[in-house]
Amino acid sequence: MQALPGFRDFLPEACARRNYIFATWREVMRRYGFLEWDGPVLEPTELYRKKSGNEIVGQLFNFTDKGDRAVAMRPELTPTLARVIAANERQFKKPIKWFSIPQCFRYEKQQRGRLREHFQLNCDLIGEAGVEADIELIALCIDLLRAFGFARDDIVVRISDREFWTEFLEARDVPPEQWPQMLQAIDKSEREPRERTAENLGRIADAVFQTFAEGGTSARLQSLMQGLAARGLKEFATIDLKIVRGLAYYTGVVFEAFDRKGKFRALAGGGRYDNLIGQLSDGAASLPAVGFAMGDVVLGDLVDETAAASAQLAAALQTSPADIFVIIAKEDRRTDALRVVQELREAGWGADYPLVAAKVGRQFQTAQQLGARAALVFGDEWPQVAVKNLENGQQQLVPKEDILAHLAGLPILSPRARRSQVERPLEES
Ligand code: HAM
Repeated sequence: MQALPGFRDFLPEACARRNYIFATWREVMRRYGFLEWDGPVLEPTELYRKKSGNEIVGQLFNFTDKGDRAVAMRPELTPTLARVIAANERQFKKPIKWFSIPQCFRYEKQQRGRLREHFQLNCDLIGEAGVEADIELIALCIDLLRAFGFARDDIVVRISDREFWTEFLEARDVPPEQWPQMLQAIDKSEREPRERTAENLGRIADAVFQTFAEGGTSARLQSLMQGLAARGLKEFATIDLKIVRGLAYYTGVVFEAFDRKGKFRALAGGGRYDNLIGQLSDGAASLPAVGFAMGDVVLGDLVDETAAASAQLAAALQTSPADIFVIIAKEDRRTDALRVVQELREAGWGADYPLVAAKVGRQFQTAQQLGARAALVFGDEWPQVAVKNLENGQQQLVPKEDILAHLAGLPILSPRARRSQVERPLEES
């Protein structure tokens, strides 16, 4: 039986890739001073009906639970974040800088880069209304992508301002109740035929197309670009008014990250949502906010397409499950051998051994396949043990009490060195 359409099995290699993506994300979030949090996978359907907008509500995995509650698997984290902040806002010093890596569920048409579940890194900064916060978040988005080995030829963040468009619609006397559908038509314009967009936009179509062609900007977008220039990141970003974002709650600056060649769907998207928290607390906790999310699916596809990024991934995945393989050449030595395996593991070494009796040659093969750096052979020489350095083939008989000290002296990675490598995966890259 197979997994449901749009759902993934994470076999060990896929899981190692996922861990690499998460570790890289977490490392950059630490550098930017964000704290990790999480919320429930299931929420009242109501939360999304009110807050996410029609597109997402149409994609909900929702059902009635045994207590007759209408519930939905989270399609995104932002409504949950707003709910949590609205309820607990006083406990936290502003600005609140939080991140999370939820698995999200959307019943989408399956296509390249879009599945029915995905993980997304959510980064949100709450309690600061100024453009400085928008700059910080866009810089963060760029640095997250750079941490995977992408350069400015690989990626671009396209930045826009919803206020530009709401002022545009207001100036043309479009009634506010029509704004959501107009913004949605602009959002979809790149993915739909021009005639379809023109039809959706009606009498303002020509003016919108003219704005696309001529480009446009605003004072806020200019100062945003200056802020990125001051950090040396300007070349990773561009002003592009075609971006308006599909979600209903955005109020100001919005942005999306793409691969430069335009081959894939968006890598990340977000923007300012200054009214959402206020709406969820009936005005009790009205806080400005800006944030974005970066998904794991398109990111993984682009890593595979980009030489530097895929080389970095391959290097990061080169860890073997076992440092030391214990070879039981004589079955009557098994108990002694297992005592040593236990000691090795307690000392922090990755140690493995054959669960059932096997030929010595086969055991050496297994040691090789696991990428072990040394083999301990428990055979006739007891109480001595043969220690074979699998990297250079050298072998030595060592009294069993001295094994740990002997291994520590070998030029293979000690458990401590391995641990610190895991803790600081990005230090050298
Ligand atoms: P979003 O644009 O809907 O924004 O999703 C963010 C990213 O998640 C997308 O750019 C994409 O990489 C990934 N993603 C979304 N849907 C799928 C899917 N079906 N399959 C694979 N990847 C997907 C939000 O969700 C906002 N809540 C982001 C945000 C946070 N805004 C403020 N704070």
